[in-house]
Amino acid sequence: MAGLRVLLCLGALLARQGSADLGAVAIGEVHENVTLHCGNVSGSRGLVTWYRNDSEPTFLLSSNSSLPPASPRFSLEDAGALHVEALSLEDDGNYTCREDLNGTRWFPVWLRVASGPDQIEVNISATGTLSNGTLYTAKGSQVDFSCHSTSWPPPVVEWFIQANNWESLGKNLTANSFALLQMSQNLQGNYTCSATNVLSGRQRKVTTELLVYWPPPSAPQCSVVVSSKSATLELTCNWDGGYPDPTFLWTEEPGGTVLGNSKLQTLSPSQLSEGKKFKCFGSHIVGPESGASCVVQISSPSLASQPMKTCFMGGNVTLTCRVTGANPPARIQWLRNITEPEAAIQPGSHYQITRHGQGSSLTIYNCSQDLDEGFYFCRAENLVGVKAVDIWLSVQEPLNIGGMVGMVVSLLLLGLAIVVGLMLYYSPVFCWKAGNTFRGQDMGDIMVLVDSEGEDEEEEEEDKEDVDEVEQETYEREELPIEIRKHGHIHRVTALVNGNLDRMGNGFQELHDDSDEQQSDIVEEEDKPVG
Ligand SMILES: *[C@@H]1O[C@H](CO)[C@@H](O)[C@H](O)[C@H]1NC(C)=O
Ligand SMILES: *[C@@H]1O[C@H](CO)[C@@H](O)[C@H](O)[C@H]1NC(C)=O
Ligand SMILES: *[C@@H]1O[C@H](CO)[C@@H](O)[C@H](O)[C@H]1NC(C)=O
Ligand SMILES: *[C@@H]1O[C@H](CO)[C@@H](O)[C@H](O)[C@H]1NC(C)=O
Ligand SMILES: *[C@@H]1O[C@H](CO)[C@@H](O)[C@H](O)[C@H]1NC(C)=O
Ligand SMILES: *[C@@H]1O[C@H](CO)[C@@H](O)[C@H](O)[C@H]1NC(C)=O
Ligand SMILES: *[C@@H]1O[C@H](CO)[C@@H](O)[C@H](O)[C@H]1NC(C)=O
Ligand SMILES: *[C@@H]1O[C@H](CO)[C@@H](O)[C@H](O)[C@H]1NC(C)=O
Ligand SMILES: *[C@@H]1O[C@H](CO)[C@@H](O)[C@H](O)[C@H]1NC(C)=O
Ligand SMILES: *[C@@H]1O[C@H](CO)[C@@H](O)[C@H](O)[C@H]1NC(C)=O
Ligand SMILES: *[C@@H]1O[C@H](CO)[C@@H](O)[C@H](O)[C@H]1NC(C)=O
Ligand SMILES: *[C@@H]1O[C@H](CO)[C@@H](O)[C@H](O)[C@H]1NC(C)=O
Repeated sequence: MAGLRVLLCLGALLARQGSADLGAVAIGEVHENVTLHCGNVSGSRGLVTWYRNDSEPTFLLSSNSSLPPASPRFSLEDAGALHVEALSLEDDGNYTCREDLNGTRWFPVWLRVASGPDQIEVNISATGTLSNGTLYTAKGSQVDFSCHSTSWPPPVVEWFIQANNWESLGKNLTANSFALLQMSQNLQGNYTCSATNVLSGRQRKVTTELLVYWPPPSAPQCSVVVSSKSATLELTCNWDGGYPDPTFLWTEEPGGTVLGNSKLQTLSPSQLSEGKKFKCFGSHIVGPESGASCVVQISSPSLASQPMKTCFMGGNVTLTCRVTGANPPARIQWLRNITEPEAAIQPGSHYQITRHGQGSSLTIYNCSQDLDEGFYFCRAENLVGVKAVDIWLSVQEPLNIGGMVGMVVSLLLLGLAIVVGLMLYYSPVFCWKAGNTFRGQDMGDIMVLVDSEGEDEEEEEEDKEDVDEVEQETYEREELPIEIRKHGHIHRVTALVNGNLDRMGNGFQELHDDSDEQQSDIVEEEDKPVG
């Protein structure tokens, strides 16, 4: 290759003896050497003389050594071939070899000199350039490609894309420009512009890698979950769907203390304080310039439940515990004894535990007084904190509805009789007149008034006698402490445990001993009810 670059063209070698018009074509490149053959004849030759034939023949070189060559660039090679060194474009032209032997024969050769292409100018109007020099563009944007090169004769300039397989994007001479209007994922690839000298076949290529990037389609979503090892919390910043992956930055809010720059961020126990906020800041190379962010707040659960429930013997009852605000979601347990969280109620034939949303409900089947009456604790725990709330369940003998109705009716009648008796006693005249005038309508009103008072009294009476009606509780309460008047005793429960699992786990006694505890991390029971 380094030697003479002889690109002898063949096609035109119809140069049969005698047909001088149909000469051979030789191709050389600028600065290279070329050898022109004196016909397709091998072996010893007669006297060979080379001429340049433009308007008229010009002597170049002869095998008669007494005649000097026209230029030192010319020399004779084997079989009368003309060797030309250091070609220039001016050497392009028609040459003739004359051979004198027995007669004279002429052998024309058309020397064609090619130049270049030496360089290609490629311009791609991409969005930006990565640090390693690779171009990238945003999906959907327009990209203009242009390629320019010079050579003699003018080159064929062609664009190729190598995405999945090679594909030509069009040929042109000298210059080639085109635009891709809507960059899509499958247009990411290596774009090659090639410039080819059709004469010499010399080709130059410039390959440019063009990446097509797009940001995630929606806003980032922050969440917190208990890590698989269950020992601590893990923040997750979900901002998927972009290419390449975005970068993340987790900070503590407020303050902006940097926690890390991965999508997942594990929190250390010291960072788990109630209500603390964490912000994830996502940035993508072709995303919004100001980036995108989301905030997650960790918080301990808040509990709400009905303070007391009633169940008839042999019947079913459902205790409900609503949990709100827990992030991450709390683990909920139902306990009989708050100091023994490890002895949680297990679902079975007697108990059924249903999780609904963040809350939970405990259904007790076939209530029995001995077994089931008493306190139930709903305990909700996440790594941020632990809370518990109690529910008193009383189990009662089933009531005879008929008997109850009868009793209420007889009480009403009794009340009516008393009222009428009293009125007659104190004001028989008024009563008489009123009765005549209003035909007992006022009487009815009065009676109703009295009746309702009586009923209230009766209900209070019933309550004291543990004859609760089976009705939904009329109020709920949030958190504790509360006082529950029950069975003539005052029962007070304070169950508010903040953020210390160990102490919670170790039980009531340790909690109590922890005297310098400022918060009400106390589970206190005073004056236990008579079960
Ligand atoms: C051309 O030929 C000369 C002499 O034969 C040699 O010295 C030179 O290296 C050649 N040049 C090229 C480019 O081949
Ligand atoms: C030269 O001539 C021989 C026979 O005379 C032929 O076989 C050969 O193909 C010719 N070469 C070219 C380049 O035409
Ligand atoms: C080259 O010159 C010779 C002699 O003058 C002539 O016969 C021949 O036709 C010329 N060839 C061309 C291609 O001009
Ligand atoms: C070589 O050239 C010289 C000078 O022109 C001439 O005298 C001589 O006859 C030539 N020889 C042949 C073999 O033609
Ligand atoms: C050389 O000769 C061919 C015919 O054989 C002709 O077509 C061509 O134009 C000539 N080239 C030059 C530079 O005169
Ligand atoms: C030249 O002519 C002689 C006699 O006329 C003959 O013997 C010889 O072979 C010929 N040479 C060539 C190369 O044709
Ligand atoms: C440049 O970096 C991008 C992204 O890291 C990579 O996809 C590409 O292959 C790199 N290009 C080169 C030439 O290293
Ligand atoms: C080649 O490029 C030129 C200049 O850019 C343009 O005028 C011409 O139409 C193009 N030809 C083809 C076949 O694309
Ligand atoms: C471009 O070519 C390089 C080298 O062959 C390859 O590593 C890279 O993946 C290609 N880029 C694309 C987008 O196909
Ligand atoms: C208690 O629940 C069980 C199972 O769902 C059901 O078969 C039974 O009838 C219920 N008892 C009462 C008193 O509602
Ligand atoms: C709860 O458990 C503790 C420890 O086992 C025990 O001392 C306490 O009496 C229990 N309380 C009730 C109400 O059962
Ligand atoms: C309900 O409990 C009592 C004892 O408490 C038992 O005798 C009875 O068989 C139970 N009934 C059902 C349906 O399980």
